[in-house]
Amino acid sequence: MAILGIESTAHTFGVGICDKGRILANQKSMYPIKDRGMIPVKVAGFHMRNAHLVIKRALDEAGIKPGEIEAVGYTKGPGLGPCLAVGQLAATLISKRYKLPLMPVNHALGHIEVTKQAFRLKDPLVLYVSGGNSQILGIVENPFRHYHVYGETFDIGIGNMIDSFARAAGLVPAWGSTVAKAAAGGRYFEMPYTVKGMDFAFTGLQTFAEKSLESHSVRDTSYSLQETAFAMLCEATERALLLARKRELMVCGGVAQSKRLKEMLGIVAKEHRAGFFVSPNELNADNGAMIAVVAEKMYRSGQHYSAGQLNINQRYRVDTVKVTW
Ligand code: FE2
Repeated sequence: MAILGIESTAHTFGVGICDKGRILANQKSMYPIKDRGMIPVKVAGFHMRNAHLVIKRALDEAGIKPGEIEAVGYTKGPGLGPCLAVGQLAATLISKRYKLPLMPVNHALGHIEVTKQAFRLKDPLVLYVSGGNSQILGIVENPFRHYHVYGETFDIGIGNMIDSFARAAGLVPAWGSTVAKAAAGGRYFEMPYTVKGMDFAFTGLQTFAEKSLESHSVRDTSYSLQETAFAMLCEATERALLLARKRELMVCGGVAQSKRLKEMLGIVAKEHRAGFFVSPNELNADNGAMIAVVAEKMYRSGQHYSAGQLNINQRYRVDTVKVTW
């Protein structure tokens, strides 16, 4: 019997199906971003129109019927309210129609657990980097088993910072891989570098980079921004790796698709003789399979939810979630 997971925190409506950790299907539809940001209600409308098609494609890919689903997971948060609500509604309708238990999944946990499972990692230090989030995490047992936040951004997620810069620089589509292309062959100039212990901040860097476009080329500014932001993450991660005494370092989330970030973190891990692990890009981008994977762990470890707990929470922090597996 399989578990179906629905992801809808932002631009992606994803539906994944897994069985005993094996991913049977991973389908998605993505709101076209181009050169603009996201207006949450417009993205939610797009998800609403596409949800049934993506669910059908996932069932077809897995080669199963709805009756063969054992439980349904959806992303409870963090994310954009209207988008989360569409995923929750779709999951609720399936659960009511087929009388299935519902599992409210933390989005960050999805990114972490799908990578952990892919490499069968036991106790890694996790750098989770995406649009809205940037955190350094690791499992601790007290006061309950959960992912402790060793360090995190004081202001915005690195992904949103890079996307905002891309829009200011007129890069299309306005996201990280476009900035990475624009940065090729660039020359470094100094930018604000903000690390406090294992925490960091990005808005000062973003403002400085956007102002620098008046006096520097897009290429040099993109290059300097990327190098500075990634070096900040590497410094904080290296400190956490030593403090937490972890032997494995994994990076996950949308920004983990960056070749340059992987290269830099790989050097940090190597210097401290830690294993270094990154998922393939299709699992680092938002997707439904990561929600199905966590929903299955929650369900099989005996978690049950009453109707009142099956809400959405735009600011659902990963360190408040009990890890029961
Ligand atoms: Fe994400």
